[in-house]
Amino acid sequence: MLRKLLALLLVTAALPQWTSAQQVTDYPEDYLSPAFHAGRRNAVREQMPKNSVAIFFASQTRNRSNDVDFIYAQNKNFYYLTGLQEPNAMLLLFKEPVTINDKTGTEFLFVQPRNPAREMWTGKILGVDGVKAKLQPENVFTHEQFTYGSFDFSKVDSVMTNLYNENILSKYYGRSGLDPLSRMAQLVDSAITTNKKPNAVRTIGTILRNLRAIKQPEEIALIEKAVVMSTEGHNGVIRAIKPGMTEYQAQAVMEYYFKKNGAEYPGYPSINGSAENSCVLHYETNQRLMKDGDLLLSDCAAEYHGYSADVTRTIPVNGKFSPEQKIIYELVLEAQDSAFVQCKAGNASNEPHKAAVRVITRGLKQLGLISTDAEVRTYFPHGTSHGLGLDVHDPNPAKLEPGAVFTVEPGIYIAPGSKCDKKWWSIGVRIEDDILITPDGGYRNLSAGSPRTVAEIEKMAKQKSIFK
Ligand code: GLY
Ligand code: MN
Ligand code: MN
Repeated sequence: MLRKLLALLLVTAALPQWTSAQQVTDYPEDYLSPAFHAGRRNAVREQMPKNSVAIFFASQTRNRSNDVDFIYAQNKNFYYLTGLQEPNAMLLLFKEPVTINDKTGTEFLFVQPRNPAREMWTGKILGVDGVKAKLQPENVFTHEQFTYGSFDFSKVDSVMTNLYNENILSKYYGRSGLDPLSRMAQLVDSAITTNKKPNAVRTIGTILRNLRAIKQPEEIALIEKAVVMSTEGHNGVIRAIKPGMTEYQAQAVMEYYFKKNGAEYPGYPSINGSAENSCVLHYETNQRLMKDGDLLLSDCAAEYHGYSADVTRTIPVNGKFSPEQKIIYELVLEAQDSAFVQCKAGNASNEPHKAAVRVITRGLKQLGLISTDAEVRTYFPHGTSHGLGLDVHDPNPAKLEPGAVFTVEPGIYIAPGSKCDKKWWSIGVRIEDDILITPDGGYRNLSAGSPRTVAEIEKMAKQKSIFK
């Protein structure tokens, strides 16, 4: 049985196809294409009801402190549909053509205008011409050109948005009306509230979730790049780690590889928990000094052109697992291997989780750590899979099919003070890989470039590191 499983894994878990490469052009050129975004807008429109409009707002900038903002992060649905990475913008998508500001069509994008004085401080704004040239949507105007008279929203049967809450769109953007987005939101809001038709307001969320759950080839190419940057980072940490290093230094090594390969950001705050911190699922402070005998749980991944990877490796700080660490590690590994077997088209997306729970329940019972099935949640309190894409927690289809990308990440966390022998305390293990369902209905482990077995990790830990 084990042999069969290993043979299956060897056949299906090919190495990632993309390896990091040096950029040769002045700026990256591998962004999603205008045709991709146009295709996604068409896919949304196909599923919209008759005589409806869907409204999408860009994210606003968010203040961090005084006159410094957080790094800007676009609303992912807005990016999916437009490719635009700027605030103060709105997309109107109509089911059937309408006329706005003398232009007839189904797509109307309102964007911030050029502003040389601001651009000197914070960089280029695309403006109407730049957006037309770069992203090629059907109709582009400045946000100032969206006025109360631009369109009579009482003409449509339904207005679709996933921001609509308690009938007050502008709640999301403040009531000031002073910034471009809250002004547009207020106009749309008052237009909607005067539309008295039944079903005047509907959610667009389900349509977007279903589309985003199945990735297009251009998206898979970007996810793959983010994953390879991430596995390079994990391998860098496995080689560099040693007692006396801090968790934040492990993070620095990891993120060096992200940046070296062109990732704009980590896909989520890097998690580097050693010893007791390995048992905190989303530990982000990364302040502890790591010692001989500790485990490090490193859940870190890069984001590239909006797409995130999500990879976890758990490694011994001194390069060798202790007997107890090895027992727990290999139980999680076995759970992950049995979850991989369930990664095939047609299976419900929770089958990998069910397989992982079966293995961990059986293993923890054999070790005397639990006595009933229900207790498994004490040490394995989270799900095994979630979709992966523009968001690190992206939609996953209910049934797996080609183009689904998701994690397989079983874990066991035995915090200090747990009701078991002390020898197990401070062992937190998660192994997380990124899986693509391939056109043949099988799977490819995109993160297979970083080792998972005890022997492979211990071997890599002995290799030279530029940071040691
Ligand atoms: N990195 C967060 C997660 O694994 O879901
Ligand atoms: Mn995850
Ligand atoms: Mn993760």
